[in-house]
Amino acid sequence: MYDFKPATPLAPEELYRELLAATDALTADEPDSVANMANVAALLWEFLPDLNWAGFYRVGAAKNGAVDELVLGPFVGRPACIRIPFGTGVCGTAAQSRATQLVADVHAFPGHIACDAASQSELVVPVLRDGVVVAVIDLDSPSPARFAEADAAGIEALAAMLSARI
Ligand code: SME
Repeated sequence: MYDFKPATPLAPEELYRELLAATDALTADEPDSVANMANVAALLWEFLPDLNWAGFYRVGAAKNGAVDELVLGPFVGRPACIRIPFGTGVCGTAAQSRATQLVADVHAFPGHIACDAASQSELVVPVLRDGVVVAVIDLDSPSPARFAEADAAGIEALAAMLSARI
């Protein structure tokens, strides 16, 4: 049994320090990427308030064999779109640009893909390995402007830790 949920509300720096410590404890010695992504999705859900979706899209081969699509990975939340082309929506933009997307109002984001109509704001961070994007971490919230720069910095640190573990 793991009980990693923070006992009391924490300031962002402390919250992400604890989230990274819990992630390290669960993933450091485990080579299975699906197990690691599944546990990290659960940790994100436990640690971060006011989310309606938390999880991974992996870079995968498209049905025609080209490696230019994201494919749904482990997550917590409602069932979601399975394949997202690079450059499409918030996740596809993060994958193509290899840059964090912090979106205060998803309805104002060109091409946003509404998997869950409840989503109002979103944070997507690419996971890079040797400079190549291998996945993205996607967080959705039912509240507008839920995510701040501290969240982007915290999830970027998480992505760096997971680079060789997923
Ligand atoms: N809204 C995302 C799609 C993924 S779901 O939110 C889980 C996007 O525009 O890329």
